[in-house]
Amino acid sequence: MPDDGRLIAGHTRPDDRENIALRPKLLDDIVGQDRVRENLKIIIDAAKGREEPIDHVLFYGPPGLGKTSLAHVIANEMGVNIRVTAGPSIERAGDLAAILTHLKRNDILFIDEVHRLGRAVEEVLYPAMEDFVLDIVIGKGPAAKNVRLNLPRFTVIGATTRLALLAGPLRDRFGARFRLDFYDQEAMEHIVNRAAAMLEIAIEPAGTSEIARRARGTPRVCLRLLRRVRDYAQVRANGIITPTVAVEALELMEIDHLGLDDIDRRILSTIIEKFNGGPVGLDTIAAAISEDSATIMDVYEPYLLQLGFLERTPRGRKATPHAYEHIGIPYNDNGNANQQSLL
Ligand SMILES: Nc1ncnc2c1ncn2[C@@H]1O[C@H](COP(=O)(O)OP(=O)(O)O)[C@@H](O)[C@H]1O
Ligand SMILES: [Mg+2]
Repeated sequence: MPDDGRLIAGHTRPDDRENIALRPKLLDDIVGQDRVRENLKIIIDAAKGREEPIDHVLFYGPPGLGKTSLAHVIANEMGVNIRVTAGPSIERAGDLAAILTHLKRNDILFIDEVHRLGRAVEEVLYPAMEDFVLDIVIGKGPAAKNVRLNLPRFTVIGATTRLALLAGPLRDRFGARFRLDFYDQEAMEHIVNRAAAMLEIAIEPAGTSEIARRARGTPRVCLRLLRRVRDYAQVRANGIITPTVAVEALELMEIDHLGLDDIDRRILSTIIEKFNGGPVGLDTIAAAISEDSATIMDVYEPYLLQLGFLERTPRGRKATPHAYEHIGIPYNDNGNANQQSLL
């Protein structure tokens, strides 16, 4: 199937349509994240038993681990409407007020990138989440009046890649908070097999494990790799994803046996070669490889930290001996030794 960014009828690309089909719908479709799933099941069953909306829920963790999917799963399990928005698209307090006044009882308001809400918008959200009221000012100057409107009981589900940027009072208003972790090999293989079955892709077990292993513990990455390997299998082989086909395709994409791509390796080799192994500030690394520092922090760094290739120190990022080994440069502590001899 072509994937060249062309729009087709209905303005959805094949990848987008497949993504929607692959989205888990119910808790039972969620692979892995056992602790999160179990806790959510309790929260959902309890709320249903009381015929109440569930408490406000916050999901945080790196991109592609299932935050948006879980929000939709909760709505499906509760049998309620979900209204989807994102921090940056609620520009003014009035925008949020308009959204809130259109909510019905038990509705879910999903706010993606919730750390990017403006201060004035947050001020409106606090009483709405806590007391289900909306305080608005009508008129201007001395004639202005404060009016308090009651809102129906509803649920906010927030998602963020940056818990640290979330204002304390906002974080506190989420009664349930879940950190999503990278998935283990078994869960990743399960996700590859489930997607391959749904998309009718022929794949051998060893092909599955190869893709799962190189998908950096991230469902979104593994679905993307599966599709690219499928293209390769179709064009360069007989359509079946054997382990050889998988390895060849992934190597052509410059994805190594740990799932690191060109940018991961440039981050590591820059720290090691240009900055003596660090510590070096994130912005300096970003400038050196012409990448956006927020992207490095959200997308690349979490996995490099998880692999134990990077260390965050108060003075910046440091490459560990494992990183030297992976990049193929002998490790020595010269960097630090030199700095000390200069003092
Ligand atoms: N636990 C899971 N089980 C099965 N598929 C998942 C799971 N988590 C994520 N996915 C798949 O990965 C894709 C990315 O997940 P998404 O919810 O968009 O991540 P996030 O919002 O955290 O960036 C989804 O389209 C979904 O199909
Ligand atoms: Mg998302």
